[in-house]
This record gives sequence, structure tokens and C-alpha cells, in this order.
Amino acid sequence: MMSNIVNDIGTEELAHFEIIGAMVYQLMRGASPEEIKMADAGTYFADHDRAVYPSTGTGVPFTAAYIQSKGDPIADLHEDLAAEQKARATYENLIKLADDPDVIDPLRFLREREIVHFQRFGEVLQKVREYMESKKYF
Ligand SMILES: [Fe+2]
Repeated sequence: MMSNIVNDIGTEELAHFEIIGAMVYQLMRGASPEEIKMADAGTYFADHDRAVYPSTGTGVPFTAAYIQSKGDPIADLHEDLAAEQKARATYENLIKLADDPDVIDPLRFLREREIVHFQRFGEVLQKVREYMESKKYF
């Protein structure tokens, strides 16, 4: 059951990645270089034109180094919980910056899903703690 939750969240996160990529593609598709520059994305355009390139807001490329795994379920679940809160906060910042309802609505949806993920990881953490604290008979 616990691995199902983690698998479901991981699968959904990949779908979120696709949603964000589609949004960036649609926003950049018809934009002129001048409009892209006005949107403070001139350096992005210089490096990637209008291609979807996973990077932070400051241009740092996505890397597997963002994915943490210690091998300790308590430590890893806390890392997951923190990641969900950081994702929620990032979506909230993006919502504050956006003025297009077609951008804001999907961001709100994604923000809500991060809250659900946080809750699911919290449930898994509780079950793992209960298991680790239970007496084992061999
Ligand atoms: Fe999430």
C-alpha cells in the first residue's frame, strides 16, 4: 500500500512536469523575441529559443541532484514532505506573478495536488513510524 502511494505520486509528478512543459510551450509559441525579452525571459531565449528546457527560474538546469534518497525511510519521507511544501510555495509564487487566468487555473490545480501529496506522504510516514515502533517477533 505504501509503495502504491509513492508510485502514484511519482507518476502524477511526471504528469505535472508535462503540464508545466505544455504551458511554457504555449506561452512561448507565438511570442516575438521582443515580447520574450519584456517577459524577462531574454536569457532563456538566447540559450533555448522557444524550446522547453527544464530549469529553475534562475536558469539552473534540472538535475538528478535535486532528487534525494538517503535509504532511511524516515529521512526520505521528510525529504518528500519538504519537497511537496517547496513545490506548493513555488506554485503560490508563480500564481502571484501570473495575470493570465489560463495560467493561474492550472497553477492552482497543481498547488492543490502538492497539498494532497503532502498529506499522503504524511500518512505513509505515520505508518512507517508505527511499523518501526512495533514489536517484531521472529
Ligand atoms: Fe507533489
